[in-house]
Parts: sequence; structure tokens; C-alpha cells
Amino acid sequence: MRKVARGSSLKPSIRPAKKEDMPAILELEKICFKEETFHKKQIGYLLKKAKSLFLVASIEGEIVGSIIILLRKHISNARIYSLNVHPSYRRIGIGSLLMKQSEALLSKKGYRNFTLEAGVNNIAARNLYISEGYSVKLRMEKYYKNGDDALRFIKKL
Ligand SMILES: CC(C)(COP(=O)(O)OP(=O)(O)OC[C@H]1O[C@@H](n2cnc3c(N)ncnc32)[C@H](O)[C@@H]1OP(=O)(O)O)[C@@H](O)C(=O)NCCC(=O)NCCS
Repeated sequence: MRKVARGSSLKPSIRPAKKEDMPAILELEKICFKEETFHKKQIGYLLKKAKSLFLVASIEGEIVGSIIILLRKHISNARIYSLNVHPSYRRIGIGSLLMKQSEALLSKKGYRNFTLEAGVNNIAARNLYISEGYSVKLRMEKYYKNGDDALRFIKKL
């Protein structure tokens, strides 16, 4: 994939993920997360069975980002479970767009509380979440397999 310059006006389209997207989603997972990537079975479950919102961002037909939000029955809480953007398409607003569109869709359905976790050393994710109006609720020690702490963020609409 070519590298897109910061400030580029390329507009991704955002749509629900389909089962045909599985290979591209798995590939993106591998590229974006060195550790703790989802496997085929987990993605399959999230696509078909889980109570979730699963969106992908595509540019010229190619999947360049995705977001998975877990939902629960009878509770207005939505947990952003995964968010990723292909390294060649970062810093042009795709992560932010995926978050905004998910929140807009879910707020129409009555979801009011949004939560997510990010590694303390994940500056890109932390800055993105703060810029989207999230605030740190708590710090969880040794949350990840590599021993890193995580921050739990929350946003109330
Ligand atoms: C975190 C991630 C999703 C951001 O996606 P993105 O499309 O590049 O983010 P955006 O272009 O929407 O950035 C919005 C804002 O977030 C912040 N931000 C994003 N990347 C940043 C970086 N590398 N360094 C510092 N701030 C950053 C900035 O405030 C940015 O606004 P600006 O570009 O006007 O300064 C992407 O870096 C990624 O996929 N990382 C690997 C996977 C991951 O860590 N996911 C999150 C945890 S599950």
C-alpha cells in the first residue's frame, strides 16, 4: 500500500463489516498489532454472533481500518474492543472517523456510556481518545501480556 501524506483529503467510506472481509481484516490485525491479535475464529464470532458493532473503513475498495464495539443487552454501555488503521493511512483522520460514526450510530440506539482501554505507552491511541472527548477513569496494572499497564477511558454522551 502506498503511504498517504498527513493532511491528505482522501475520504474513506465507512460500512458494516461483512464475512467476505475476513481475510483483509485478519491481515490488518497482523500488521497493526504485534501481540494479542485476533484469530480467525474470534473475528468470525465478532462478525456473526457477538452483540457488537463492527465497522470497516475502505479507500478505493481496500480495507484500511476497522472498529469493533461490544454491546450488552439492557445496558447502555458500549465498549470499544478494537480499533486499528493501516500504518500507510494513519494521521489522516480515519481512526477519529471510525469512532465518531460508531458513537453516532450507537447513540441513536440509546447507548450513552463508551469505554475502552489503551496501553499507557500507546501515545497515538491515548491522544486520539483524549481528542475524542474521553477521560481516564482508572489505571490497570500489568493488563497486557507483555506486562504493560492499561488506562481505562470513559466518555458519557
Ligand atoms: C491509534 C490509531 C487507531 C489512530 O488512528 P489514525 O487514523 O492514525 O488517527 P487519526 O488520524 O484519526 O488521529 C486523530 C488524532 O489522534 C492523535 N494521534 C493519532 N496518531 C498519533 C500519533 N502517532 N502520535 C500522536 N498523536 C496521535 C492526534 O491528536 C490526531 O490528530 P492530529 O493528526 O490532528 O494531530 C492507529 O495509530 C493504530 O491503528 N494504531 C495501532 C493499533 C492501536 O494501537 N489501536 C488502539 C488500541 S486498541
